[in-house]
Amino acid sequence: MSSKWWQKAVIYQIYPRSFQDSNNDGIGDLQGIIQRLDYLAFLGVDALWLSPVYSSPNDDNGYDISDYQAIGPEYGTMADMDCLIKEAESRKIKIIMDLVVNHTSDEHIWFQEALKSKDNPYHDFYVWRKPVAGGPPNGLKSNFGGSSWTYVPHLDEYYLHLHSKKQPDLNWENPKMKQAIWDMMNFWLEKGIGGFRLDVIDLIGKEPDHEITQNGPKLHDLLQEMNHKTFGNYDVVTVGETWGATPEIAELYSSPDRDELSMVFQFEHINLDKQPGKRKWDLKELNPYELHEVFSKWQIKLDQKGWNSLFWNNHDLPRIISRWGDDSDEYREISGKMLAIYLHFMKGTPYIYQGEELGMINYPVKEIQEVDDLESIQMYNERLKQGYPIDDLITSINAKGRDNARHPMQWDTQLNAGFSAEKPWLPVHSNYRTVNAAAALADENSLFYTYKQLITLRKQFDVITNGEYQIVETNNPLVLAYQRFDDEEELTVVVNFSKTVQKYKVAQTLAEHEILIHNCPERPEQWHQLAPYEAYAVRRSN
Ligand code: NOJ
Repeated sequence: MSSKWWQKAVIYQIYPRSFQDSNNDGIGDLQGIIQRLDYLAFLGVDALWLSPVYSSPNDDNGYDISDYQAIGPEYGTMADMDCLIKEAESRKIKIIMDLVVNHTSDEHIWFQEALKSKDNPYHDFYVWRKPVAGGPPNGLKSNFGGSSWTYVPHLDEYYLHLHSKKQPDLNWENPKMKQAIWDMMNFWLEKGIGGFRLDVIDLIGKEPDHEITQNGPKLHDLLQEMNHKTFGNYDVVTVGETWGATPEIAELYSSPDRDELSMVFQFEHINLDKQPGKRKWDLKELNPYELHEVFSKWQIKLDQKGWNSLFWNNHDLPRIISRWGDDSDEYREISGKMLAIYLHFMKGTPYIYQGEELGMINYPVKEIQEVDDLESIQMYNERLKQGYPIDDLITSINAKGRDNARHPMQWDTQLNAGFSAEKPWLPVHSNYRTVNAAAALADENSLFYTYKQLITLRKQFDVITNGEYQIVETNNPLVLAYQRFDDEEELTVVVNFSKTVQKYKVAQTLAEHEILIHNCPERPEQWHQLAPYEAYAVRRSN
């Protein structure tokens, strides 16, 4: 079956600030990424999604862009970027840029001009409203907490910001603004990048007067227009961040005949450990079978109609081993392997977040002074005022705070884990002497090699890309299983999503299958019992 390159690809996300510092200022940079390309090529990934490296005052670590066509000096220069694209290409790796076009920084020249007067040509690049009864136009809340309206006295107007007040929202009703974005996107496409990850893209069709933010009525028209004016003319991948997507909405985005995006990041599984209707900070234990049902639903509903992305982590999410595996010394690696095996045989494009392949874990803090992330800090201040106990707030931050993913990459046992010779912008995890890339590469049983093997298997067996998906009942809600099959072959994946021994039953006689991957040293004697976090995938010809 013929597939697009990105349907067979595995994509690696880099958070440049924390990946590799080459000039010892404590902040990762583009030359640092170049130094590590051989490592990434050895892992076998096809493309790198870089979180933003543009000029930015870094109120939200680069998701507040002040110049889309300039590299932030802490990351290097445009010449470094051109070099990265070229060096990556010579290793058959594409570079995917983060496209943040729901908002800019308030320090972007467009917003600086917009502030000057109501008749400035850039004023209408943003969303402005008159005060109502001496206050904000309505009660719309920012995703980071507080009102999403900020008043500008000399204009007697409020501007909209669905994130921090240093991230004013662009006005997607304005054709001149859109043209400026198309030109900017084409500038990057002409450089030969491999695609875009589109930040909070489901917000661009917003209708603030009706308090509609996600999935506004004009969203899909805007994406089709974007596709036709920019990336639709190139063989690139596009992945939208869409917190509000259901499978039906994801089909609109990713159906090949609709000319929108290649795929979206959907977050239904990610929301399973929060209390329904509440925020991510309101914790709830994961029910593994519910997770299995959600994944299975997406596998089946998008089959032949759209395309899935597959991920556990990103720069906004806690580390998956701490979250749904077990980060104790005893189970850290084996639970990490189980999670990887469970995800990587599904249909879709897998994403690996930096350090996931090493089994990096959450970084617990004791007090708010240790936290850098503005979302966590805003939540803390807001809830403290509402009377929440401090201990509960710190527990939530340790479970869900964004810093967990942002501590420096652990390369080796040198000072600061080989990330930088100077004090890093966020401290290195204390486990870096054992959890690091050098140690992982030296141990053929490490989690790194599980990821490498999963990437190789995806390239080897077409059924992983194109086969059908079917849930397999095991008579045990903690043993999750599924099959992938086509006319030629059938794969069965079975994982114990728990810390205890589990018995299970599957209809197939698995003993007759070839083992593709297994996270325990021995071939199991009994196929009806699994050790804690044991996971395997087997294959047979049809
Ligand atoms: C989603 C990004 O992933 C996150 O890091 C950022 O804070 C918001 N969008 C706003 O751009």
